Amino acid sequence: MGKVIFNMSMSLDGFIAGPNDEVDRLFAWYFSGDTEVPFPGSEFVFKVSRASAERLQEASTAVGAIVTGRRNFNVAGAWGGKPPLGVRHFVVTHTVPQEWAGEGSLFTFVTDGVASAVEKARQTAGNKAVAVSSANIMRQCLKAGLLDEIHIDLVPLLLGDGIRCFDYLGSEPIELEIISVIEGTGVTHLAYRVVK
Ligand SMILES: NC(=O)c1ccc[n+]([C@@H]2O[C@H](COP(=O)([O-])OP(=O)(O)OC[C@H]3O[C@@H](n4cnc5c(N)ncnc54)[C@H](OP(=O)(O)O)[C@@H]3O)[C@@H](O)[C@H]2O)c1
Repeated sequence: MGKVIFNMSMSLDGFIAGPNDEVDRLFAWYFSGDTEVPFPGSEFVFKVSRASAERLQEASTAVGAIVTGRRNFNVAGAWGGKPPLGVRHFVVTHTVPQEWAGEGSLFTFVTDGVASAVEKARQTAGNKAVAVSSANIMRQCLKAGLLDEIHIDLVPLLLGDGIRCFDYLGSEPIELEIISVIEGTGVTHLAYRVVK
């Protein structure tokens, strides 16, 4: 069974988006180098440092399915029907947008919670990893003991305001082990294992 991994770009003061969901400054590192990395499932080509390119390629080939939240889906405009990595997305929501739920869609809408979404994504991913691409869903997975690793692309920026990554986790410490630290250009890739 594959691992469940959260991966997100975050400012040093802990934000994953600005107050109006802006991510441009947090994503600047995707265009900060000269090694081209085509982003599977889209027409995007990132230009990053060699170290970041290796990291991105390794991460994208490891993922077999993605679990995300309804706001991420909405803010991204459903990625125009072409979600990141071209893999099935399990969108946790209270209501199903019928226009995206039809045959041929890469979206499965899950209305019975994160554990159900992760289980369904695991079945789709097989031996590959399940990526969690929303902070809100990551926090629910963490609390439920479903998260194996936290990968943060740490951006040298104090954003000041916006959506915090690690809010609402309670006051009990959660222990992590360092897996790797990779220095890119305009970003430091941090990977941690969640101690269970
Ligand atoms: N920095 C980065 O790398 C990065 C990457 C991707 C996205 N982002 C940013 O992340 C933000 C979106 O993420 P987010 O954490 O704010 O929200 P989110 O997790 O994408 O969405 C939260 C919504 O999901 C639904 N939901 C969550 N848990 C649920 C449950 N247990 N049962 C049923 N429905 C549930 C609810 O929507 P409903 O009630 O409407 O169904 C809830 O309001 C955006 O600002 C985006 O730009 C940043």
